[in-house]
Amino acid sequence: MAAKPGLGTLGEFPRLRLCRLPTPLEAMPNLGEALGGARVYVKRDDCTDLAFGGNKVRQLEFYLGEARLQGADTILITGAVQSNFVRLAAAAARKSGMDCHIQLEERVPRDDPLYRNSGNVLLDRILGATLYSYPEGEDEEGADRRVGEIAEELKGQGRRPYIIPLGPGHPPLGALGYVVAARELLEQVASRQLSIDELVVPSGSGHTHGGLLFGLRALGSRVRVTGVCVRRNAGPQKERIRDRCREIAELLEMPNPVADDDIRVIDDFLAPGYGRSNPPTLEAIRMAGSMEGLILDPVYTGKTMAGLIHRARSSGPGRSFVLMHTGGTPAIFAYGAELTAALA
Ligand SMILES: Cc1ncc(COP(=O)(O)O)c(C=O)c1O
Repeated sequence: MAAKPGLGTLGEFPRLRLCRLPTPLEAMPNLGEALGGARVYVKRDDCTDLAFGGNKVRQLEFYLGEARLQGADTILITGAVQSNFVRLAAAAARKSGMDCHIQLEERVPRDDPLYRNSGNVLLDRILGATLYSYPEGEDEEGADRRVGEIAEELKGQGRRPYIIPLGPGHPPLGALGYVVAARELLEQVASRQLSIDELVVPSGSGHTHGGLLFGLRALGSRVRVTGVCVRRNAGPQKERIRDRCREIAELLEMPNPVADDDIRVIDDFLAPGYGRSNPPTLEAIRMAGSMEGLILDPVYTGKTMAGLIHRARSSGPGRSFVLMHTGGTPAIFAYGAELTAALA
């Protein structure tokens, strides 16, 4: 494969602009002081404009670019009941004049009415998406297969569906949004003459973590990137990020700049599992809210901030961190009962 300089073929991918960039990079001095003199910044990707924002907007720019190119009129996607991705896919589809069909997987063992109907589910309904349910939560292949069947049914009705795949084994178009974000972050850091030691980022499908790590290394940055596991343990997550980086390199037709031992993931804040909270996460949500007016969620960014707090406390004063705030805030209403109990 011919080596291309910089970010390879990135500029050649179809991209539908859905948000105003750059997102802000904000200092969090109160939090830094509480963490013994760390310098803490937050990259506000919760402010990506569309329908309450979040990391998936950057990813959707590339999926919808491709869907447009293919002449699609309907977007299909699968995710957890309180998925932010499906909410944002519905918003992006609507904004672009397309329909959206959403499959909600039973990934979190909860039956309370708030979880089932509020937060992202309420937004899915407001956005006019067609909802389906899938009885399993850890069956990525089965969930993808079912979405494929729905697509076939839609084709039979004369529709032109485009599937946004979630599982591995597909070109990671969404990760390109975070290769772009890596360049944006480096530009912000340089223009403000900041020095950043560590970026802390949630690690789920790996599009955000993999895209950022790849982009930073391809652009020559050695900043440490710590992925905080939100879906699976460190072993399989590390493998997933390794695969993502290899796939991004193939997509961009350039050498993979990410070495194996450069992939760092921590799973200390995952238990008791995906979409389920724990005391350090609730404490991180409370600290960010009460010290900085910053809203985090219990599924992704609260766990990630718990990871940053842990890293700051164990690495001594003076180190500078960036938290990648990936959004997810509508879910706090679905988790309202337990958050209320924890904060009372
Ligand atoms: C708010 C939020 N943060 C982080 C993630 C994880 O990002 P990724 O799937 O790119 O690893 C998700 C995934 O759905 C999310 O909704």
